[in-house]
Amino acid sequence: MSKTLIVANWKMNLSPSEALKKTKAFYTYILKHPKKIEVVLCPDFLSLQGILFFLKEKRTSLTIGAQDCFYENTGPFTGEVSPYQLKELGCTYVIVGHSERRIHLQESSELISRKIQQALRGNLIPIVCVGEHIKMSQKQSETFLEKQLLGSLENIVLHARQSLIIAYEPVWAIGTGTSYKASCSPEELTQKISLIKKCMKKRFGSHQEKSFSYLYGGSVTSQTAYDFIHQGNVDGLLVGTASLDQKEFLGIINAV
Ligand code: PGA
Repeated sequence: MSKTLIVANWKMNLSPSEALKKTKAFYTYILKHPKKIEVVLCPDFLSLQGILFFLKEKRTSLTIGAQDCFYENTGPFTGEVSPYQLKELGCTYVIVGHSERRIHLQESSELISRKIQQALRGNLIPIVCVGEHIKMSQKQSETFLEKQLLGSLENIVLHARQSLIIAYEPVWAIGTGTSYKASCSPEELTQKISLIKKCMKKRFGSHQEKSFSYLYGGSVTSQTAYDFIHQGNVDGLLVGTASLDQKEFLGIINAV
């Protein structure tokens, strides 16, 4: 990946009009500050259409992703949204397997693997989240991450020009502002990312290494963004809480 990727995961925090207002502000800022960064906004499903309509035919490095997708393209699946629908709207990315969905909606790695397969078929770039729930020893982490990664990527075949993003998001580090949760250190991140890369190489072979990018997510702020990118050996960041605060998010963009 030539550009650093900064992904904003807005979760279920904004109304469609608030999400559009934020997008407009980021768009104006990014226009004035062209950098080797791709900023990906991931609003909720309801906000996607308004945002993509606003960005249509504008030349910008702002791209859009969804926060989830279903594992079929069309059919009787009440309440679901498919990669096919997201692609037609103009989405480029889709987050799959976020820990909040694994926890609150009991999404299994098997289900996540089906979603990734459909996202790839629908020409979306999946951002696949993995991460331990609690701090673990190196050995335990290795076992946990390998199982979660291989389970989520089961049956995935990557064709030419397809790419996949792995976001390492330790669950214990997610949620800025809660003082009892410490963020992962850049040193810890380096260890985990090399473990994940080793696992990906074993799973897909070294010839596919260029098809993968790696992100870190978990309480990233404008103070820590630089270190995560430059010491953590990642290609970008997945930002939750701090992406809702304009000053903080622009601080992250400026810092990396
Ligand atoms: P956070 O969220 O930045 O608030 O920790 C990250 C995420 O959940 O993707």
